[in-house]
Amino acid sequence: MSSASADPVAALAALRAEAEARIRSAVGREALQQLKTEYLGRKAGRVTAVLKTLPSLDPEARRVVGQAANDAKAAIERLLEEADAARVALEGGTAGRDLTMPARYAWRGAIHPVTLVIDEICAIFAELGFSRYVGPEAETERNNFTALNFPPEHPALDMHDTFYLGEGKLLRTHTSPLQIRVMETYQPPIRVTMPGMCYRRDAFDASHAPVFSQVEALAVDEGITFVDLKASLSYFARRFFGRETRVRFRPSFFPFTEPSADMEVECRICHGSGCPACKNTGWMEILGSGMVDPNVFVNVGIDPEKYTGWAFGMGPHRMALLRYGIPDIRMLYDADVRLHDQFVDAV
Ligand code: PHE
Repeated sequence: MSSASADPVAALAALRAEAEARIRSAVGREALQQLKTEYLGRKAGRVTAVLKTLPSLDPEARRVVGQAANDAKAAIERLLEEADAARVALEGGTAGRDLTMPARYAWRGAIHPVTLVIDEICAIFAELGFSRYVGPEAETERNNFTALNFPPEHPALDMHDTFYLGEGKLLRTHTSPLQIRVMETYQPPIRVTMPGMCYRRDAFDASHAPVFSQVEALAVDEGITFVDLKASLSYFARRFFGRETRVRFRPSFFPFTEPSADMEVECRICHGSGCPACKNTGWMEILGSGMVDPNVFVNVGIDPEKYTGWAFGMGPHRMALLRYGIPDIRMLYDADVRLHDQFVDAV
């Protein structure tokens, strides 16, 4: 007689331990099915075989062995069920699916190229001690023109092609009215960048838009000179466009600065040799600037005998075209995810 018959309870314990180990390491539905048949099968199952001997045992042995055999059967059944559930979770998740199908593209948000440019401009000036100031797009005629020393009937008023809102209000045509707001709120020394949207009754074309951004900057202190203006703006251009970038200043006119100068950078597309983007000049204008006109200081109550200052206004939409080689300003307004998607990695 085998030892299984000698001590059926010990034999069942060994059988159960063996079954548990084999179920745990079984892989796949078929392997589990085979183990179920081997241990619990109706005809030749090894636990079933023990149960079949019960009628031939005396009542006390029948009770003890019967208990052990039923426990073993229940334990193995439960383990088989758990193993099968784990198998279904593992394999069933992909059942009926085509695992070679390409993943569906997930759209991620991107920061608009103009916003990237604005933030970069402000960040460069922040390193030089400039804080950031914003103000309303609906402005007073006084802040937008009069306080900035535009004489009434001045041709520049026509140049700005203003959207008037009535009752002395308008959509600001530039960010320069923010200079007035800052100088009427804070005492010098002042160093501030002022980004914002501006509005002019222009038609859309490749380089113009009726709604566009500007970043204004203003520095007011004792002893500020035109040298500071040139140095700060040249430094900025090299930081923004690259170390080797050449810049030049050309005399200009604004009612609120005297003297005034436009800054041009070497064309980023042809690097000075001339191309359609720079109208074959090799240069591109990116900002207007100048020394704050003493009349403006008087209008805001700052003593022009004591203080001097410089200001500029630059166009981030245009700079985004240069920076990213975008051929048409209208692309920056189309909200086409195919453009924005190219800036995801810049975030
Ligand atoms: N506001 C002027 C414009 O829109 C730019 C400018 C700003 C010029 C500050 C000088 C100083 O063209």
